[in-house]
This record gives sequence, structure tokens and C-alpha cells, in this order.
Amino acid sequence: MESIFDVESLRAQSKAWRLSGFTVAIVPTMGNLHSGHLSLLDRAKDLADRTLVSIFVNPIQFGVGEDYDSYPSTIKEDLQKLEIAGVDTVFMPDLKELYPGGTEVDTRITVPEISDILCGEYREGHFSGVATVVAKLLINSMPDYALFGEKDFQQVLVIRRMVIDMLLPVQIVSMPTCRETDGLAMSSRNRYLNRQERGKSPAIYSALQSAVERLRNGAFTVEEIEQEGVISLTEVGMKVEYFSIRRQKDLLPVNSSDRDIVILTAVWLGSARLIDNLKVTLD
Ligand code: PAF
Repeated sequence: MESIFDVESLRAQSKAWRLSGFTVAIVPTMGNLHSGHLSLLDRAKDLADRTLVSIFVNPIQFGVGEDYDSYPSTIKEDLQKLEIAGVDTVFMPDLKELYPGGTEVDTRITVPEISDILCGEYREGHFSGVATVVAKLLINSMPDYALFGEKDFQQVLVIRRMVIDMLLPVQIVSMPTCRETDGLAMSSRNRYLNRQERGKSPAIYSALQSAVERLRNGAFTVEEIEQEGVISLTEVGMKVEYFSIRRQKDLLPVNSSDRDIVILTAVWLGSARLIDNLKVTLD
């Protein structure tokens, strides 16, 4: 596995692969890799001849007071995992490499509407930060495929829309959320949970599952189900930002004709902000 650190080498690598007729898949990450990332890598290897992973903790997607400075970094273990997974190249730029003009006054990409709801309401500028860094990575690596996990359901929609609007010639592939055996969605931020909080955390997945059952059952209104979700999570000591039933395609509120639905939630458990979602297709 080759490690590269600058954009120039990323371009050269990508060009060499393309000249050799290889297809390329990129998995953008912020490191601290877990099984969720590894499932993206497996799929990337199935799809393309060459796989590229980026590791970069992107400051502009973190708000003031968020966990940018304490975001878990496990670079040595990450590199071992990537080596074992058979990744071809890992790109690990520093801040100056991706933001040559700094991050105070710089060009950003903002995907309208979808970026302002749900997580966007609570994390101002977050999705603009994500769209900007992902665009930089895609433009400079020119992959055929880019893979993302569906735990970040809203992020995937933002990226899909950015790629359409910016005419980027890449196929966005999303993969199902990987869960611990008790249902907790895998996330680097699970590391912030202490023992007691970790014990409570499966309540998130249970609440989503109950909401799916209630939706299928048909005897409850959307508002009742959302309220029940908030109550059940609050009762176990979580601070709920939202528990919301939306359309899969654009995350707008559902109406009676919608069949492809997703239930999304964001909660605080101790110092960890956790998100999760569950898709449901009604018959
Ligand atoms: O999902 C993540 O880890 C990040 O938001 C991403 C897509 C790597 C952009 O920094």
C-alpha cells in the first residue's frame, strides 16, 4: 500500500491508473476506522480495479465548540487495517494541502435546502464543509466510484446532490449502516461513551425499530410516532435533537402517498452526539 500526502501525487496516481485502463474507487474518511469503513472498502474492491482511501479530519465541517480538536485519531491502527484490506493507496493530506488559502476566507460549496434541515439545523455550515471537502477529493482523484455509509443518511443525499449540480463524473455508492451486536450504529464518536452511556445506547436502534413497527401498523399518526420516539429516548437520559419521519428521496416531511420512508434521529448521550436512521418501505 502506498501512502501519499500531497494533491500533486494524488493527481499523478489517479492519472497513472486511468492511463493503464483501471477503474478507481475512493472511500473518503476521517480515520479512526471501524467495520463500517471496512465494509465500504470491501464494496470498493468489488466495484473498481484500484482503491483509494483518504484520511483527513476536515475542520470546516465542525462547528465552534464541536469535537474537532478531540476527534479520535488512530492512524497506526488505521494503516494496518487498510493494508490488510488490500487498499492500494491512502491519501493523508495536511490542512495546508487541502486548504491552501486557509479556512477563514475560502471558497465553499453549499447544497441548498437539504443542508439546512435535520442535522443542518443544529450544525450550521456542517454540510457545506462536507460538500466542499468531498468535492476537492473527487475533483483531484477523478474516481469512477465514491463510497459512503448510510449512517450519515443526510450526508449521502447532500453529496449526491452536489455531484449532480457540479457535474462531477463519479458514481456515488452508499452502503448500509454497520451495527454492534446490540444494535448501536458503528461510529467513531461511540468512543466518547462511558460504560453506563454505552449500556443505554442501544435504545436508539430500539426506538427506531419501534417507530418502523408503528408506521407499518398504520394505527398511529406520524406525529404520534415521532413523539413516542422522543419520549422513549428522553426517558433513558438522552437529549434528543430530532426524531423525524421523512421521505427517503429528499428528507421532506412525509405525506400519505409516500412509501419510501426513513426515520432519522440525533441525540446527545453524555458528551457524544449520535445519529442513526432506519429505512422503511410501506406496501
Ligand atoms: O463521513 C465522514 O467521515 C466525513 O464527513 C467525510 C465524508 C469523510 C468528509 O469529511
